[in-house]
Amino acid sequence: MRGGKITWLDEVDSTNRYALEHFDELDDGSLVVAERQTAGRGRRGRIWLSPPGENIYASFLIKSTGIPIWHTPRISGLAVLETLRTLAPEVNFWLKWPNDLFCRDRKICGILSEVKSGQGNVVKGGVIGIGININMPESNLREIDQPATSLLVEGGEKNNLKKVAELLVIALNKYYIIGLNNSQELYALWKDENILIGTVVDMVMEDRQVVHGEIIDIGFDGELKVATSAGVKSFLSGDLSIAKSSIKQMFR
Ligand code: BTN
Repeated sequence: MRGGKITWLDEVDSTNRYALEHFDELDDGSLVVAERQTAGRGRRGRIWLSPPGENIYASFLIKSTGIPIWHTPRISGLAVLETLRTLAPEVNFWLKWPNDLFCRDRKICGILSEVKSGQGNVVKGGVIGIGININMPESNLREIDQPATSLLVEGGEKNNLKKVAELLVIALNKYYIIGLNNSQELYALWKDENILIGTVVDMVMEDRQVVHGEIIDIGFDGELKVATSAGVKSFLSGDLSIAKSSIKQMFR
């Protein structure tokens, strides 16, 4: 692994698309960062708003297949938390299952992992896309289709995006190495940050049905275990999301 390198792009449609296309030329453990994206990809086919110079739009390359691809968002979740805490130690950032980072009841970072396959659909590795709202003012945050915040709003100061990317790539490589050496350790660190464990929430299923229950655990493979009136149920990340009203209640 040759980690830590940053490829800077002025403009690209999506850093994830670029990293997947140039996967073979780019280094393992390196980061592609763009000043702006013209077609930033969000989860579930959504668009990720990517105005120039305000935020981090980055994709991290995982070339080792020694780590299950569905564990890789843990690397980025922990790395972004560490980076944000370094930049604004007084602010309370938290990890929302499965892949978001929040501050109070507002999203500050989204993560989109994509698999890189080679010939015969053999998995070659993965690309973790990371969008962090850094210098986005309140007026632009209002254009996002869900409650969102930025480091500027929470910490009160603008940050140099180059410095943020440099801190981020160091933290990403730190957790990548932890994951490669000991996936149980990575899981334990990530689970520790999931403050939703022990919380009673409403969860919205893909078919819009709502499940009410207490989150009692998150399994090694990321499954959410929920105690409901019909017994303990397990859900995978694709199945549901935590209702916004539940998050709001936690921070009232
Ligand atoms: C989400 O929907 O929460 C995930 C958003 C991920 C956005 C980032 S920005 C950099 C990278 N490139 C993309 O096109 N998407 C990800």
